[in-house]
Amino acid sequence: MIGRLNHVAIVVRDLTASTAVYAQTLGAKVSAPQSLPEHGVKVVFVELPNTKIELLEPLSPQSPVAKFLERNPDGGIHHVCYEVDDILAARDRLKSEGARVLGDGEPKIGAHGKPVLFLHPKDFLGTLVELEQA
Ligand code: CO
Repeated sequence: MIGRLNHVAIVVRDLTASTAVYAQTLGAKVSAPQSLPEHGVKVVFVELPNTKIELLEPLSPQSPVAKFLERNPDGGIHHVCYEVDDILAARDRLKSEGARVLGDGEPKIGAHGKPVLFLHPKDFLGTLVELEQA
């Protein structure tokens, strides 16, 4: 059911400094920063030939990723995002398999303007999984 790895997301304390690590130290192509208030984050995409890295900085102390930084003060890998062809069909299949969908279970529009859902890490080997409709 799942397709390509769309991105790996890393939560960071300082988006400007973290962008420089990827743009300068690692020599990657990096997008302009984008604020996503409905997700509580400011985001930069690192564009690699086969996938993307999403750098996430919390927009406020209430942001869901602010709690992650409390537990992981140096930041770290936050989630992986897999592409699916039909997000509602994927959700219904996962629920029938007993997987838990976070939030109200309805897709939200993600950073690429496409519908996304998050799945409970306890059901997926301790990893927060995002699904994005390709
Ligand atoms: Co993501």
